[in-house]
Amino acid sequence: MRITMVGTGYVGLVTGTCFSNIGNEVTCLDVDPAKIEKLNNGISPIYEPGLDELIDRNHKAGRLHFTTDKTQAYTNAEMIFICVGTPSDEMGHADLKYVLAAASDIGKAIENAPGATGGELEERRGKIIVVKSTVPVGTNEKVRQAIAAETNKPFYMASNPEFLKEGAAINDFNKPDRVVVGVNDEGTGGRMRKLYEPFVRNGHPIFVMDVPSAEMVKYAANAMLATKISFINEIANLCEAYGSNVDEVWRGMTSDARIGNKFLYPGLGYGGSCFPKDTLACVSMGIESETPTPLLKAVHDVNQQQRLNFYDKIVEFFGGEENLSGKKIAMWGLAFKPGTDDVREAPALTIANKLVDAGATVEAHDPVAHETTQIVLGDSIGYHDDLYATLGSADALVICTDWPEFKQPDFGKMRSLMGSPIVFDGRNLYNPQLLQDEGFTYFSVGRTP
Ligand code: UGA
Repeated sequence: MRITMVGTGYVGLVTGTCFSNIGNEVTCLDVDPAKIEKLNNGISPIYEPGLDELIDRNHKAGRLHFTTDKTQAYTNAEMIFICVGTPSDEMGHADLKYVLAAASDIGKAIENAPGATGGELEERRGKIIVVKSTVPVGTNEKVRQAIAAETNKPFYMASNPEFLKEGAAINDFNKPDRVVVGVNDEGTGGRMRKLYEPFVRNGHPIFVMDVPSAEMVKYAANAMLATKISFINEIANLCEAYGSNVDEVWRGMTSDARIGNKFLYPGLGYGGSCFPKDTLACVSMGIESETPTPLLKAVHDVNQQQRLNFYDKIVEFFGGEENLSGKKIAMWGLAFKPGTDDVREAPALTIANKLVDAGATVEAHDPVAHETTQIVLGDSIGYHDDLYATLGSADALVICTDWPEFKQPDFGKMRSLMGSPIVFDGRNLYNPQLLQDEGFTYFSVGRTP
């Protein structure tokens, strides 16, 4: 199939590359010429394990193209996936200006395209415009209207939410738990099924449903996952208050199959570009429709508070914020989670900022997120390529991301480098007893030392 992806961000690039990898002819369109030039030189603008190789292979094979030429990209495509950003304001309202601008351009391209003569019957019936960006329920209809305002020629709409995790996106795309497609007519459902069938040979389902339901699935799934994280963080806080150990509580609780054991790890709360934004968007949809969503508002508030609680633990240990002045704090992990250089809404950045504001020096190491952090924090913190280089004379180490390479460090080396062997572990990487035996004063989440 001939597919155009609008927007070479995270979703557009991964999706387009994976479609091309199974033989489709894919064009990735972006308004940013610098990005397109990079991609044409085989350089991915984002860090995602395995993506560079896939881009390179499919680009060289002539199936994956990068362009800024809208007319060409839209005119040739049988399917157009809108994957542009939907930035949200503080209240969680998604800004649809990029989505609607793309819709209007697509409408013009459909209007001006010469009538298709060859090709398969379904191709001649009209393009499918697929909204893949996460957008408030009802946006597909707005996109349809924006296209229809430019043309009377036929086209079809589909909503196709994505469920990719950063750091595991290629695998998630190639072996999805499920594919969700929202359509207004059976024919479009059939064409979308045909596109995705090669990816569900694992027997996993393709759910074809109405558009508003498909749009809601994405929010419901992310809101549920965010709820699990805030729930376990709240339980972890209670554990600390009552001397319970959240690891034991987790074991006892999650052996109930109705509860399950996934996505219930306590820590600094969730970050990234999805959970914070999507939870707030649900709250915002609730306000707009006068349908109260107090639970999801609480999920968000608990999450914001969790990183501050952890900072307070550091403050309390040093006997007040004023005592942080002049302290040297090592920080391991800046990215919002392992496997990515993404620092959007990362707890590490909130904590680093607060430490710096209090007058502490922060010396940080992250395997891949120095550049992305520097864009936000500049040189207010130090960056070290070696994790042990952060520790020289440190008054404490704060761990903010559960990168695998932090899980079994040389504790003796750490102790000898640090000024004081104090560890604040926001991701529960270590056994508290082990750290105590190794001579550290150790703080984690939901576990009393
Ligand atoms: C999330 C969803 O997992 C994807 O299914 C979805 O497609 C994506 O959002 C999206 O909407 O695009 P992602 O943001 O990449 O993916 O990251 P996750 O792996 O889900 O982690 C999110 C955050 O939750 C991280 O900060 C992680 O540290 C935290 N987390 C996760 C916990 O604190 N505890 C857990 O038990 C699990």
